[in-house]
Amino acid sequence: MTDVLAFLGSPRKGGNSEELLMAMLRGVEAAGGLAELIRLCDLRIEPCLSCGGCDHTGKCVIEDDMGLLYEKIIKTDRIILASPIFFYGVTAQAKAFIDRTQALWNRKKLLKEKGEWQNQPGRNGFFISVAATHGSRVFEGAVLTMKYAFDAMDMHYAGDLLVRGIDKRGEMKRADRDLAAAEEAGKNFFLNRKSHVD
Ligand SMILES: Cc1cc2nc3c(=O)[nH]c(=O)nc-3n(C[C@H](O)[C@H](O)[C@H](O)COP(=O)(O)O)c2cc1C
Repeated sequence: MTDVLAFLGSPRKGGNSEELLMAMLRGVEAAGGLAELIRLCDLRIEPCLSCGGCDHTGKCVIEDDMGLLYEKIIKTDRIILASPIFFYGVTAQAKAFIDRTQALWNRKKLLKEKGEWQNQPGRNGFFISVAATHGSRVFEGAVLTMKYAFDAMDMHYAGDLLVRGIDKRGEMKRADRDLAAAEEAGKNFFLNRKSHVD
């Protein structure tokens, strides 16, 4: 079984957030963990229809590749999501995935109502992002989205690694300090240690 589930939200193959995520996964593996990488753009994940289908079941009615991910999310206790900033938020691919976790939010709510909810401590989510600009608020929207997304997945927001001023493909490859910070963050995330990165 994998220790860390890693979702990549960029549609750009070999792009900057992928470089940063791969560095973090090298850290996870250096610390003895096993990671599974899932490229959201390779999957067919339809946007949420707000049909209310999951309200009373905790299950989504849409039949697509998201069906494969629900069980994986429930079973793992560590998730990393990496997405570049697109218009001050996460990418459309990442957002479609996040919106579909509404079914998990409802599942949690329904289990709580039935008194069948078992609190599982130590479930942690980590967010990685890159942005072209240096704006002080450039990650604010995405971080807020991710805090609520991890909550729906029953994960504590354990931290993030946010890199400004990275735009063209290949720029991240040359950012040695950020790649080293990502590797360190990967080790700490797997070992459940606090990572001091910003
Ligand atoms: C559609 C689109 C919207 C973007 N919006 C922003 C933005 O609002 N702020 C910003 O700093 N960079 C923005 N960018 C730049 C990307 O965040 C940047 O190129 C990033 O390095 C891409 O990462 P990737 O290679 O992992 O896809 C945008 C890029 C695209 C293609």
